This record gives sequence, structure tokens and C-alpha cells, in this order.
Amino acid sequence: MKSKFHFVCQECGHSEPKWLGKCPGCEAWNSFSEEGVEDKKRASAARNAPKHYTFKDIPSHNNARITSGIGEFDRVLGGGIVPGSMILVGGDPGIGKSTLLLQVMANLSTSGKKCLYVSAEESLQQIKVRAERLNQHGISMALLTETEFETIAALIKEMQPDIIVIDSIQTVGVAELQSATGSVSQIRQVTNELVRIAKDRNISVFLVGHVTKDGAIAGPKVMEHMVDTVLYFEGERSGSYRLLRTHKNRFGAAHEVGIFEMESSGLTPIQNPSEIFLTQRSQGPGASIITSYEGTRPLLLEVQALSAATSFPAPRRTSIGIELSRVNMICAVLERHAGIVLSGQDIYINVVGGVRVNEPAADLGVLLAIASSANDITLPTDLVCIGEIGLTGELRSVARLEERIQEAAQLGFKRCLIPAAHGRKSLKNQHDIELQQVNTIGQALEMYCPLS
Ligand code: TYD
Ligand code: MG
Repeated sequence: MKSKFHFVCQECGHSEPKWLGKCPGCEAWNSFSEEGVEDKKRASAARNAPKHYTFKDIPSHNNARITSGIGEFDRVLGGGIVPGSMILVGGDPGIGKSTLLLQVMANLSTSGKKCLYVSAEESLQQIKVRAERLNQHGISMALLTETEFETIAALIKEMQPDIIVIDSIQTVGVAELQSATGSVSQIRQVTNELVRIAKDRNISVFLVGHVTKDGAIAGPKVMEHMVDTVLYFEGERSGSYRLLRTHKNRFGAAHEVGIFEMESSGLTPIQNPSEIFLTQRSQGPGASIITSYEGTRPLLLEVQALSAATSFPAPRRTSIGIELSRVNMICAVLERHAGIVLSGQDIYINVVGGVRVNEPAADLGVLLAIASSANDITLPTDLVCIGEIGLTGELRSVARLEERIQEAAQLGFKRCLIPAAHGRKSLKNQHDIELQQVNTIGQALEMYCPLS
């Protein structure tokens, strides 16, 4: 077999016969590296027309999903593991991917599933130590430490497991490919082979993928479309909360979120996340409560803001948990439409618990937190702020307001500041919570943060 070389973009998998500085596929700079390819000449024998099907020819599967026994994990998968599916679990190194999957495998093997855990990163001793830490002494799954894909495939064929974990995809390679393990062509090849094995034998496969420094799984586009489900494990490593997010799911809703706490004995699912995030409330100025839709459920979170006199010519804006451009916009709206001068102030924003909020519905809460810190006024502790802010200082309505209010009421909040724009739509507020509708940020500030 003749082999040749070509250049492959490590970001998107685009290949070119010669090196280029900028990838024409994804416009990334300096992302090409040389990789070998096997030049397989496929026999192009005259093919018979393939058989085609109509829906009634296909036997319906009641798709008996396999439950992992970890509620939050099953939820992000859309109600359990679909047999024969490929699931990519991505995340920063050390976030807890191996821990989570070891716990899942422990449960599955206890419930009688045949499990195979392939680790290309850790030794058998290390895995055993982790299992003991998780109090899984009697775990009965098969373990393999191997980096060569052909060997792994041979074991899969012999053992016929129900569930496989490959930890991690970046460290497993096909021997006959000349490129290094972790390169795009290796990842593509291994994933391809695994997809075939999974579909042929109805085996569910979990692939662990490390996120590169740019926040993407190496060769992300290459892998994401090949697998059925993409989950991202995120959270601040220093904090103890971890969010497992569905990025793509062929068998369930995308954007679902499972919440876990990392403890000394492993990951514990959290049933009532809002309660946990609000257990330690700050008492002084500069804090507000917002709602954020995470997947199919609303979450109540505390946003903190600190405005402090700056010693820099250009004041600093620092934000953890909320996009900095949104914070800048909210500061500009505050200056322009509410007359709160922030040009001499550094502003720091933090969402408590290490959660990243990606929703405009949080705007009003962020604005009130900043104003509360700048004017040194403490907001009431029974208040929840919901609303998107427009550039003219108006409050805009948000999606699924009803459910957000309900969550706030359930947690014992008594007042809810919401956009008046919603008034026209009927809000059937059957909850014990007062709805305060405002049109502009001016009205909201008048109520809770009047200029001193
Ligand atoms: P790990 O699952 O090895 O991360 P990944 O596979 O994503 O790289 O998790 C490593 C971190 O989790 C490590 O910093 C220690 C912590 N940890 C706990 O806090 N409790 C535990 O029970 C375990 C097993 C790990
Ligand atoms: Mg690991």
C-alpha cells in the first residue's frame, strides 16, 4: 500500500496537498500540520442497486434506553443511554470526566450490563484507586489500558460488551496511520471505526475528549458530526459544581443541563440546583437574583457586582459568568439612560457557583447589581429580577417567563421585577408572589436603587 502525505487543518479537518498559513475551511491561522494517509484503492466493482426501504419495512424499536442510575446523567442524554449510540464527553482536563464515567460504568455493571473501560491515559492501579475512592470496591467491569485501536477492536469483538468507555479519544490511534495520536486524521479514523462497531453490534460508546486551550475539542467539527450526542462537562475547577451540558443530541433535547457537585467521594447529582446556589446569600449592596434557563429548567442564581474607584485611565471591566460585552453594554445603558457615572469606576461581575449565564434575561439583575453597588443600596432579599435590556433603556420581554416566576415562587421569593411588555400577554400568576411590571430601567432603578 502506497502512503502519501498531505496537510490537515487541526481545527476543522480541511485537507490540502500543500501547507497554507490560513485554512480556507475555517479561516484559522497556522493550523495545518502534515499527516500521512493510506492511499487505499477501492475496487470499483460494478454495484447492484441497493435495496431501499419505506418506514413500514423498518421494525420499530421501542428503543429501550439503558438507565445509568444517575438521574442527572440520564436527563442530559434525553432519558437514558440509547443502545448503539456514540456519545462524546468533552471537557477541560481535571474537570471530572473520568470520574463521572467510572461512576456510570459502576452502576451499569452492577445492573448486569457488560462494560468495558478502555483507558489510554491511566494505569490499572490509578483506575483502581479512583474506584476505591468512589466506594466502588465490587465493580465488575473489564478494564484495558491500551493506546492501539486495533487491539481495542479485537477485544470488543471477542468480548461483545454492551457499553464501552474510551478515555480518551486523543490518546488512541490506529497503528497503520503514520500521523501522531491526537491528530485530526487519527481521531477521524478511530471515531469512524468505532461508529461502525457501535452500530453493527448495538454497543453504546462513550468517548472522552479533552478540550484544547481554545475551548474546542481537538478536531471538534470532525468529531461532532460523527457522533450521536455531544456532552460538555464544565465548571470552575476550583469550585465544586459541575455542569454537564448537551451540545447536540440525536435522541433528545439539546441544551439540557445536569448539575453535579464534586465531593471527596465522587460526583453527586443535585436535584434542586437553585436551592444549592442560593444557600449562601450575600447581605450587602451589589447582589441580585436572576433566573437563567439551563436546558429545560430555570435556575435561580445570585449575581454580584462590585464598583470601585479606578486608578487606571481606562476603568476595568471584569466578568466571570457573564459575557463581558453584555456587561459593557449594560454599563453604557446605565450611564446614558440612568445618569449613573461609571467612567471612574472599575466594575467586577461574578455569578456565584461558577455557572456561566448566557441569557439576556439576566440583564436586569446585572444592571441592578451594578447600580446597587455604585449607589451603595442593598436590594431586598426576596426580589428576583427578570428582563432583557435594550439600548434605549427599555425592558424587553423574555422567553418562558411563567416558569421563571414559578421557580422563584417555589423558592420563597416574594417579589418579581418583570418587563411590562409582558402585560399584554396574559400572565396567570397563581403563585404567592407579587409581580412588579416596569417599562424602563429608569422605573426599576427608581423602585430599588434611587440616586442618592
Ligand atoms: P478526573 O475524573 O480525573 O478528571 P478528567 O478525567 O476530566 O481529567 O477528575 C480529577 C479531579 O477530580 C481531581 O482534581 C480530583 C477530583 N476528584 C474529587 O474531588 N473527588 C473524587 O472522588 C475524585 C475521583 C476526583
Ligand atoms: Mg481523565
